[in-house]
Amino acid sequence: MIEHDKRADSNTLTIALSKGRILEQTLPLLQAAGLNPSENVQTTRKLMVDGDFHGQPIRFLIIRAADVCTYVEQGAADLGIAGRDSLLEYRPHVYEPLDLKIGRCRLCVCGPKALVEAGLPERGSHIRVATKYDKLASEYFLTQGVQAEIIHLYGSMELAPLVGMAERIVDLVETGGTLKANGLIEETTLCHISSRLIVNPASFATSKQKVQAIITSLRQAVDQSDNSKG
Ligand code: PRP
Repeated sequence: MIEHDKRADSNTLTIALSKGRILEQTLPLLQAAGLNPSENVQTTRKLMVDGDFHGQPIRFLIIRAADVCTYVEQGAADLGIAGRDSLLEYRPHVYEPLDLKIGRCRLCVCGPKALVEAGLPERGSHIRVATKYDKLASEYFLTQGVQAEIIHLYGSMELAPLVGMAERIVDLVETGGTLKANGLIEETTLCHISSRLIVNPASFATSKQKVQAIITSLRQAVDQSDNSKG
């Protein structure tokens, strides 16, 4: 039997957090905003953790980055922290009130050095593209007049060109280390990415004050963090 905060009720707000790299950068912001999980969300195996926001109970879900949009759009979470990449790809019906300025990276088209230097094949020709961003990749290659066969992968996209499965990848680049280690280079930057606070529109309407208090606290935390970086 899982013990939950006895103060929590159906009015308790739920925030979906992205697992993985972003979580490490999310935690200091949550703490500065007064959003405190009752246990270490980086190490717990629990997927739902109680917490406190200035004396009010609150709940955290710890889920895969790509699923945050779904939980918030469905109303299973009232708020969430999602990468702009997921928002652009899945286009959920959610509000996006705040750029958290963490998880900064870029979405790029990349490929093996020799292929990138040779340029995209001529208009009307065919190319295989490994990505988890099917829509964004298709749309980009459409604008280039190249027919992209999308090979959907869930991670480690950089491997696909190495084993001859794709001529290009569309993926996130942060330091460029993974590309370099696998002999790939960037061809084009499609957009710059950071993590955003997202809100379910119905939750915003029904719990406006509580949601607004969280937005305001997080906005202050982002501003403080920005100022301290100079
Ligand atoms: C992301 C991304 C790249 C890598 C880029 O993958 O998909 O593979 O990070 O980072 P870098 O430019 O700093 O090397 P992640 O490690 O999150 O895992 P994934 O491949 O399973 O998505």
